Amino acid sequence: MTQPAATADCSTALVDRFGRVVRSLRLSVTDRCNLRCVYCMPEGPIRWFPKSRILSFEELARLASILAGLGVRELRLTGGEPLLRRDLPTLAGMLAGIDGIEELAVTTNGLLLEDLAAPLVEAGVQRFNIHLDALTAGAFRAASRRDGLDRVLAGIAAVEQLGATPIKLNAVIVRGINEDAVLPLAELALRHNYHVRFIELMPLGGGEPFEVEKLVPGREIRARIESFHRLTPIGRERPSSPATVFRIDGGAGNIGFINPVTEPFCGDCDRIRLTADGKVRTCLFARAETDLAEPLRGGAPDGAIADLLRAAVAGKEAGGCLELQRFYDDRLPRKMWQIGG
Ligand code: 5AD
Ligand code: SF4
Repeated sequence: MTQPAATADCSTALVDRFGRVVRSLRLSVTDRCNLRCVYCMPEGPIRWFPKSRILSFEELARLASILAGLGVRELRLTGGEPLLRRDLPTLAGMLAGIDGIEELAVTTNGLLLEDLAAPLVEAGVQRFNIHLDALTAGAFRAASRRDGLDRVLAGIAAVEQLGATPIKLNAVIVRGINEDAVLPLAELALRHNYHVRFIELMPLGGGEPFEVEKLVPGREIRARIESFHRLTPIGRERPSSPATVFRIDGGAGNIGFINPVTEPFCGDCDRIRLTADGKVRTCLFARAETDLAEPLRGGAPDGAIADLLRAAVAGKEAGGCLELQRFYDDRLPRKMWQIGG
């Protein structure tokens, strides 16, 4: 039987050619950031997206609600640094109220979290992923080219106090920059119920070509921790979750490794991304993107937007997109802060 024309249909799930079903949307709300992490942003001046191209709250909420109709259940707000987006709690409230959305989380560098955690939780944010690369001021500055460790720690404490748990702490270890932070970061999971996640350095940085020797493989990080603490595997949180998780002996929390480079997990990917300027990307490393800003602003009906989303997902590549050759490719069309982690 031929498929009926899909135009007005917003209800079919988003499935790609490999049978992967999209369940999770990373929604970037700004490309701006108040840190300049070495693996993400260039040191020099950055040309930000013009304000007029950034999607409005109404546009974001409309897209999220179309996507919820297509089966998306989890929203994660990202950036740049999402807390720099003015009135973010208002947006969070709009998104949390969308039918079908079961999980609303925010990925943040934590600098502005102390003040914003409470209003965000009140608006419906359930969880925070907080980026933390170091526990000394010097290493923090080496990794992020700015100060602010104390503010991040205060932000984490604020979230903990609110009971918005589990708190995920994301660290990217860069050789020669913050390797010494591995053990202290891991040991945060001893006293606190933190889920500490080590993410392998990916070739997404600003400006410079990727230097493969700066990548510290997840298994090396694990070995460092294991020379002091016993780690017991507890598997993945769910099949599509990129982290392999371990219990740390005597710990309240756990430790996870996200190894996209040495152990790509594309086969179970359930994510798509929307950039702050309204482009859908089906993979961090995709070269193709689908613009939704123009149709949104040009009065396209929901069904037409849904069609564009379905077509984008249908074109999602298998993955394995991190093959080594890309380490030497600095021509990736967009950098991390322009996509959203
Ligand atoms: N490699 C690995 N992780 C990165 N992130 C940003 N850039 C990179 C990179 N080049 C992480 C951030 C944050 C999440 C959104 O993605 O550290 O935790
Ligand atoms: Fe998904 Fe791309 Fe990440 Fe693989 S690399 S898990 S396909 S987003």
